[in-house]
Amino acid sequence: MNLPARPAVGQFEGGSVFIDGAYAPLSEGKISLFDWGFTRSDATYDVASVWNGAFFRLDTHMERFFASLAVLRLQVPYSRAELREVLHGCVRAGGLKEAYVAMVCTRGVPPRGARDPRLATNRFYAYALPYVWIAPPDKQRSGIDLYISERQRIGPESVDPRVKNYHWIDLVQSMFDAYERGHDTSCVVDAHGHVTEGPGFNVFTVKDGVVRTAERGVLEGVSRRTAIELCQRLNLPLRVAPLPAADVRDADEVFITSTGGGILPIAKVDGRPLRQFPGPLTQRLQQAYWAMREEPAYRDAVDYR
Ligand SMILES: Cc1ncc(COP(=O)(O)O)c(C=O)c1O
Repeated sequence: MNLPARPAVGQFEGGSVFIDGAYAPLSEGKISLFDWGFTRSDATYDVASVWNGAFFRLDTHMERFFASLAVLRLQVPYSRAELREVLHGCVRAGGLKEAYVAMVCTRGVPPRGARDPRLATNRFYAYALPYVWIAPPDKQRSGIDLYISERQRIGPESVDPRVKNYHWIDLVQSMFDAYERGHDTSCVVDAHGHVTEGPGFNVFTVKDGVVRTAERGVLEGVSRRTAIELCQRLNLPLRVAPLPAADVRDADEVFITSTGGGILPIAKVDGRPLRQFPGPLTQRLQQAYWAMREEPAYRDAVDYR
């Protein structure tokens, strides 16, 4: 293994990075101004989470990360076992029991003047931060108001949304659209006006007992996949099909899925209260999500000894 020794527990209390092959405090989390990850959004990443001292579906996150690397022709110098060790190391070093854990690969810096991405040495880094909720807990309780922006998510013909990416200008601008109108968060649409995803989450509706989420034009979120599998386990009818904005506005229940919170109920769409908040199916799925995180098959416990 070309890895450093395991860091001590809490060596970088509160969060840690792994960069240039070593563990370091968060303040060392820096890259060059000239890295194409920054100047061209030429990067991919993945984010897993730790709750109650254990990762959830870490293998699935790593699988998606390696698949994204292959599509973008990026390479990291680590095997899966080594990547796992690095991610566990960041959480250990940060002394975190609940964490947001990112793995990132950028194109790197090509030789000066060169425009050929093949000449760059790709850069890998990872970090662990205290767990990040996509909406603060008090907002989750009082009720998230989701705004459907008219902005289109960059088309899947241009940037494959299944490759987790930093092409976020559309999503960030949609957040401004939402905030300026007094809503809490946003989602964007595709060229047909179908709801795709929001900044860091997938969108689901429930109508007449049927759960629905977009089939394409979205990141295939690990939490989305978990919600789909839980529907199957709980025998809830599910459609993975286009999601017209009008159907989201007219749904009985709406929920969003993200590594940053699991399954979260939405209270209002475009400021109008939904029929049910928190909806009964959303609540069942939410409970099942947190229970599933404790199942041995999906838990990868961090060693804090
Ligand atoms: C654009 C986008 N869609 C969906 C998601 C949800 O994916 P996951 O459930 O894997 O966190 C994310 C996560 O950050 C995202 O960035």
